[in-house]
Amino acid sequence: MHKHYYITTPIYYPSAKPHMGHAYSSIIADFFARFKRIDGYKVYFLTGTDEHGLKIQRAAKSKGIETLKFCDQISKTFKDLSKTLNLTNTDFIRTTEPRHKKSVQHLWNELVKNDDIYLSKYSGWYSVSDEAFYNEDEVEEIEGKKLSITSKSSVEWVDEESYFFRLSKWEKPLLDFYKKNPDFISPEPRKNEVINFVKSGLKDLSVSRKSLSWGIKVPNNKDHVIYVWLDALTNYISALNYPNNDDNLFKKFWPASIHLIGKDILRFHAVYWPAFLLAANIELPKKVYGHGWILSGDEKMSKSKGNILDPIKIIKEYGIDPLRYYLIKEVSFGNDGNISQERLEDCINSDLANNFGNLCQRVTAFTIKNCQSKVPIKIKFNKDDLDILDKYKNSLEEIRIKIDNQNINFYIDYIVNSLFEANKYFNDQEPWKKKDDLLRLNTIIFTSLEIIRKISFLLYPIIPDSSLKALKIFNLKEKDINLTSIGKNDFLTKGNNINKINILFNKIEKKND
Ligand code: ME8
Ligand code: MG
Repeated sequence: MHKHYYITTPIYYPSAKPHMGHAYSSIIADFFARFKRIDGYKVYFLTGTDEHGLKIQRAAKSKGIETLKFCDQISKTFKDLSKTLNLTNTDFIRTTEPRHKKSVQHLWNELVKNDDIYLSKYSGWYSVSDEAFYNEDEVEEIEGKKLSITSKSSVEWVDEESYFFRLSKWEKPLLDFYKKNPDFISPEPRKNEVINFVKSGLKDLSVSRKSLSWGIKVPNNKDHVIYVWLDALTNYISALNYPNNDDNLFKKFWPASIHLIGKDILRFHAVYWPAFLLAANIELPKKVYGHGWILSGDEKMSKSKGNILDPIKIIKEYGIDPLRYYLIKEVSFGNDGNISQERLEDCINSDLANNFGNLCQRVTAFTIKNCQSKVPIKIKFNKDDLDILDKYKNSLEEIRIKIDNQNINFYIDYIVNSLFEANKYFNDQEPWKKKDDLLRLNTIIFTSLEIIRKISFLLYPIIPDSSLKALKIFNLKEKDINLTSIGKNDFLTKGNNINKINILFNKIEKKND
């Protein structure tokens, strides 16, 4: 029996090519996916692009390109980015695919069948950039322009026939659900935002548009297309072939373990999506995690503001693993974070090159020279060795719990500390002074090799390529990595060859040094 884990990223708008914010969500999701996989879970990891709606229609028009062609082009840049980021996504969904359209129309019919949808008229504000409706009190006027207070995007007045979803009916059930499932919305401050919003009263939600054609048609009324957020959110189940269950995907992986999103789209995921699901009698996801923003100066980095950092450029200059490591370590997970090239270079030099890379080089070089390039055979652990080795077994359960609470900060601190201790152990034990006590020398080397092996396993979800390169020391492959075995002190086969490896990270020469 396999344990299942289903993680999703937002599906991104292909209105412009991806930036560091998108890369961030995807890298974090990949971290969780890889962690769960090495812990024995069957993982479904979904990402993709959200291609309908006025925002995309207008973006295509402004470039003078036919809308679907425009989506094809930009969606491809997101798909290519997922390769560049070394994501292990199982699927990449595009909302313009027939499989998705079928699911959305089915869900719509379910909502109609349960009397959760009715036809009326919408008069109010709409932000095309957010694809969101706003109440009068959510809008402000600055220099004669009407803006959404929260997102600062401009809003326009809409007056048209529209289908409505009876969101108001779900106010109480949603509040009950949040209460019964205190982890549903994370982290904690986000939860309070959502609960306050729902408590302030939910109005029925407009879920169709008549004045645009770029979308999925409302079944039985060709004049309307389905609101792009109802369309987009459904990707999380259309990718599992909802409502079809021939391949068991839906049965195995739904409800999702976690929808990982940025806090900008929390309301859609923590209010509208669960309400749609409740109305359609579908189980609710286990968790919605709204992470913070990558800032550029003091502002959210975003396509519409044009203040973006191009992940491809950074990767070309430094490589993918340094970027993954940096984003995971330096942006305190859950909070907003500024990123800078300066700090990225510090991370590469101190953590990756000095603490990890150097440890691998020193220990292997010593083993090759003094232990005939083999994992030592005769060893006898003393207390120093067991103290440092057993720590991993003792932390295993805690690590799992922290990860299930998305405490990435704990995980990275744990690794940084482990690297520090490992280097300290090797220095303090001074194996180079033990040449006339081979049992001791061999034991120190064996211990150091085991620690490198354990830390490389832990680093795999963060810097997969570099971890695999380090594991070449032992001829270990991806399939050999599993979390439980960081608890073992005799994982390495005694007498096996130890290989010299290439430098893992090149130090960056700092410009102002
Ligand atoms: O909202 N910092 O798509 P989108 C961190 N299509 N993360 C960021 C970020 C930043 N500066 N900028 C973007 C949409 N993101 C909808 C989603 S889901 C059913 C539909 C990330 O292209 C973050 O995950 O605007 C954010 O929620 C998402 O990209 C928004 O991407
Ligand atoms: Mg956005």
